[in-house]
Amino acid sequence: MQKLKQILSEIILRKKFYQTNIFSGTTSFSEVYIALRNIFKRKLTYSHFIDEYEHKFAQKLGVQNSFSFLTGRMALYAILESLYIKKGDEIILPAFTCVVVPNAIIYLGAIPVYCDIETERFGPDPKSIEQKISPKTKAILAQHTFGIPCLIQEINELGKKYDIPVIEDCAHSLGAKVDGKILGTLGTASFFSTDHTKVISTGVGGVALGLEPKCDKNIKSIQEKASYLTKKQIRHQLITFVVFHILTHPRIYWLSKYFLAGLIKTKLAFFITDYLSLTKPSAYPFPARLDSTHSQIGISQLEKLESNLKQRNSIAKKFEDITKANASIFANEKLENVWLRYPILVENRDEFLKDTFKNYDCGIWFTTVTECRKSNFHEVNYQKGSCPIAEKVTNQIVSLPTHFRMKPLEPLLTMLAKLKKNNNNTFTYVRNK
Ligand SMILES: Cc1ncc(COP(=O)(O)O)c(C=O)c1O
Repeated sequence: MQKLKQILSEIILRKKFYQTNIFSGTTSFSEVYIALRNIFKRKLTYSHFIDEYEHKFAQKLGVQNSFSFLTGRMALYAILESLYIKKGDEIILPAFTCVVVPNAIIYLGAIPVYCDIETERFGPDPKSIEQKISPKTKAILAQHTFGIPCLIQEINELGKKYDIPVIEDCAHSLGAKVDGKILGTLGTASFFSTDHTKVISTGVGGVALGLEPKCDKNIKSIQEKASYLTKKQIRHQLITFVVFHILTHPRIYWLSKYFLAGLIKTKLAFFITDYLSLTKPSAYPFPARLDSTHSQIGISQLEKLESNLKQRNSIAKKFEDITKANASIFANEKLENVWLRYPILVENRDEFLKDTFKNYDCGIWFTTVTECRKSNFHEVNYQKGSCPIAEKVTNQIVSLPTHFRMKPLEPLLTMLAKLKKNNNNTFTYVRNK
C-alpha cells in the first residue's frame, strides 16, 4: 500500500514515469485534429492548402516561391536536378551529416566528396572545402547544423571564386539568421526538412527554394512532374502522425516506447526508411510531393514558428547558463540561432548517457559520419579517417533537444550542473584538444 501510494504520488508530482523523446516535439492537438478530420476524405492529394503552405513558407523566408516535397532529401534531389547535376559530377558536403544527403547525390549518379567540419558551429570548414574542390565540383552544400548558421559568408566566397553553386542545407535551421539575413536565402538554392524531429513538423516533409531564377523555374517544373504518395500511403502517414503524437507524450512515453518501437520495427508505422538504399527507392515516387493535409499541418506549424523559436532559445539559454559549452556562439551578436539541438561535447559519452539520460530518449545526432550508416562507408564514398574532426565529434557529441516536450527539464539541468561542477571541461571536450 505504501509502495502504491509512493508510485501514485510520483505520477501526480510528475517526478517519475515521465520521459521525453525527439519525435513530435512541436506538434499539438490542433494538428492532430487536422489529421483526424482528413484521414477518411476521398480527395487526399492536391488542394489549395498546398499553395497556401508554400506561399506562407516563402513569406517567412521573404522570397517569391517555395516548393514542397515529401522529404528534405527529395527537395535536395530536386535542387540537384535543377542544377543539371549528372553522372560523375562531384558535390562537396560535410561528413557530419545524415546519410540521406549523400544518398540523394548518389541517386543522380554524382559523387559525394566529404569535407571536414569546424568545432565551433559544427558546419563545413571552408578550408577543408577548398582542399576538396576539383574541376568536377558542381556544388557545395553549406549545412547549418543544429540551427547554428555555418560559415556561409566564407563558403559563398569560395563559391564565387570557383564559380560553383552553393546549396544551403537548412534541414535544422528554419528561422535562423546571420547578420540579420535569414538562412535559406544566402546561396543559389536551399532546402528544409519538416519531419517530426525538426524545427517545425509536418510528420515528414521538405521544402526547396531556388534563389536564382533559372533554378527556381527548374524546381517548379520538377515539382509539377512529381507524383504524390498513394491514398493508402497518405492515410498510413496520417495515422502514424496521430499515433506518434499521442504515444510520445512525455507522461506516457515511459510505457508507450516499447509499443512504438514495435510499430517501427514491424512497419506498422509509416516511415521513409531508405537510409541504406544506394539506388532511388521504388516504394514511393522519388521525389514525391507533399499532400494537402500535411500542408495544412504545415500552415498551422508555421503560425506558431515565433513562439516555437522563443521556447527553443529559452531552453538553449538554460543549458548554456549551466554548461557554457557554446559561449562564443552566444557572444556573437551576428548569429540568431534556432537551436534545434543544443550541442555539448563529452569525453566519455556512454558513461554520460547512462547517468544523465535515463529519462531523455533524445536520439543523438550524429553518432557516425553519414549518420544511419553503421558500416561500409565506402559505399557512400566516405574513406575512414578522411575527416578526422567530424569523426571525433561523432564520438563526443550529445545534442540536446529544445522542443516543447522536453519535460520536466529540471532533473536534466540539475544533473548537468553537477557534472559541470565536477569537471570544468566536460562539455567542450574536442574543442580543447
Ligand atoms: C543535416 C540534414 N540534412 C538533410 C536531412 C534530410 O531531411 P529529411 O529527413 O526530411 O529527408 C537531414 C535529416 O535529418 C539532416 O539532418
